[in-house]
Amino acid sequence: MNPFIVSGFAGPEYFCNRKAELSDLKEAFRNQRNVTLYSLRRMGKSSLVKNLFGTLKKEADCIYVDIFSAMSLHDMVQLFANAVTVHFGHTLKSILGNIPNLIKSINASVSYDPITGKPEIKIALGNFEKQKNDLVKIIKFLEKNKKRVLIAFDEFQSILRFPEKNVESLLRTVFQDRKNINFIYCGSSKGMMTALFNDSSRPFYQSTQHLYLEEIKKDDYSAFIIDKFRKGNQKIDKPQVDFILDNCRCHTYYVQFFCNRLFSKNFKGSDDVLHNTLEEILHENQSVYFNYRNLLTDTQWKLVRAVAKEGNVEKPLSSDFIGKHNLKSSSSVQRSLASLLEKEILINYRGMYMVYDVYFSLWLKRSSVN
Ligand SMILES: Nc1ncnc2c1ncn2[C@@H]1O[C@H](COP(=O)(O)OP(=O)(O)O)[C@@H](O)[C@H]1O
Ligand SMILES: [Mg+2]
Repeated sequence: MNPFIVSGFAGPEYFCNRKAELSDLKEAFRNQRNVTLYSLRRMGKSSLVKNLFGTLKKEADCIYVDIFSAMSLHDMVQLFANAVTVHFGHTLKSILGNIPNLIKSINASVSYDPITGKPEIKIALGNFEKQKNDLVKIIKFLEKNKKRVLIAFDEFQSILRFPEKNVESLLRTVFQDRKNINFIYCGSSKGMMTALFNDSSRPFYQSTQHLYLEEIKKDDYSAFIIDKFRKGNQKIDKPQVDFILDNCRCHTYYVQFFCNRLFSKNFKGSDDVLHNTLEEILHENQSVYFNYRNLLTDTQWKLVRAVAKEGNVEKPLSSDFIGKHNLKSSSSVQRSLASLLEKEILINYRGMYMVYDVYFSLWLKRSSVN
């Protein structure tokens, strides 16, 4: 098995560090505190939550609800009902127990996947009042659970695009002060998450403890990588690991992806293989990158490329930067910058502008495409 996992969570042995964060999350749960967990995309929030859930198994029923695909409150309630049903193991055979009552009370229909036997809940569309009542019923159902309950809503910032009004205050009202239940709200868009939780005029303000997930420390990641290669009878040396971590900015997903590739080649320490692997990865994604070019205006494209060439930029509006990269004017750069940040092609991270996608950034830096 390749020890470098590139999707989901495969167990603590494939998981690098995060000990402090795990213990913070556990401690928050044990003291009935709700948590907002946020970071850049692909830094490791979802897998951290799954890891946490594994360690809390004995003391809690942990329910994971990814609402990335939800376009409305109705979708969210449906995803939530599904997660609860799947968690408590409602099968065709188990018509006893409380889940069927819950399903009945929210007027949902259940179908079963013919292969896995997994239930799928469909809730009838209804007005806001109905969505709210359904949500309350699910929460009340969980409140009666014997064990304590921990619910993680992943990609929680999705609620900001729901068309219904007052979703935030509805959720806050329904979720707050539940005897038996605590929440983790995960989100990747920093702007949106801070808007939800840091704005004193909004319902979720100061309702949670904040946990910001940073990069895994270079030394820890380095030791992890060397150990995994060694255990797989492969060989990588410290400067080579540094090459990976530096190029990938220690950004978890990109590091994992690189190592996964290298490991699959039965790596024995050749610098050529190391460098070729990076070239291959960038080359593979080329069509996606070219497509970005079609989606952006000329000035936007030039700006992204200029930022990538620099790696990171503190002052993209400075005349130095504008002159060096042949950009038009400070006002046009400003407009492009705003739009690229909004699209999350660029980010401002620790005071520096950079291209969000690490491989895209590396590709732009090397390519001669105009
Ligand atoms: N601590 C870790 N050790 C090893 N791999 C990790 C770790 N955290 C995350 N990953 C891997 O990194 C990738 C991105 O993680 P994910 O949890 O999906 O990030 P996020 O939810 O922040 O977008 C996944 O492939 C996951 O398996
Ligand atoms: Mg995630």
